[in-house]
Amino acid sequence: MEQGGLSCLIVSRRGLRVRKPVIAGNWKMHMTCADARSYMSVYLPLIEETPNDRHLVIAPPFTALSTLADITRDTKLELSSQNVHWENKGAYTAEISPSMLTEHKVRYAIVGHSEPRKYFSESDEQINLRAKSAQSNGLIPIVCVGESDQQREMGEAERVIRRQVEQGLEGMNTNQLIVAYEPIWAIGTGKTCEANEANRICGLIRGWVGSSELIVQYGGSVKPDNIDELMTMSDIDGVLVGGASLDPKNFARISNYSLN
Ligand code: PGA
Repeated sequence: MEQGGLSCLIVSRRGLRVRKPVIAGNWKMHMTCADARSYMSVYLPLIEETPNDRHLVIAPPFTALSTLADITRDTKLELSSQNVHWENKGAYTAEISPSMLTEHKVRYAIVGHSEPRKYFSESDEQINLRAKSAQSNGLIPIVCVGESDQQREMGEAERVIRRQVEQGLEGMNTNQLIVAYEPIWAIGTGKTCEANEANRICGLIRGWVGSSELIVQYGGSVKPDNIDELMTMSDIDGVLVGGASLDPKNFARISNYSLN
């Protein structure tokens, strides 16, 4: 497991790059431990030759973390959780604490995904507490932000995202942090945000946060046939993949993106 900050100087075919891309798959509420085992028997051999110029991450359901911690030991694949609570223990039914995750070699924690924002009314304040707790316990939060189609149509996208960034990231260390720009209208719909527009918003987010080293991912209907174009964009430092990460061959193709 790599220590220290996420960013490092890597040499790509296009020259020096400071921000090492993070390719992450979010399995959401899919995959039993048995499913996870058979998935990895296909996926892991396909990433043996993947260059070290990118991080590869999978976020399984909590129940599969322990199984995957064993299977992925000594491989290029790192683990993320799909959530994390701000306390390390206590009367918080249904929640999971940072130490319960780090015990299973989890390195990242997704927070503020649009699904808990929508189904469980997660607020930017709660997301900020989760993200800060992740950081102070040695996890790297992947904080998701993004506008709805209605907000975009009304010309509100930038204002909404900026508010999510300012409130969700308040008081955080920008070296141990990933922001995922995930327009809600592109999630699970097959409608990918046009690469130039996704790139523009990712650049704006980095500017609002004020750190040129901040890793900003794009998420929303990322697939084998659009990954290469997305990854050529100067301000997109990786992707957060839902549906296409459920198929090991598709996620291997995304992991093995090429800039040629
Ligand atoms: P999708 O989901 O790739 O299925 O659109 C992305 C996400 O929810 O992170």
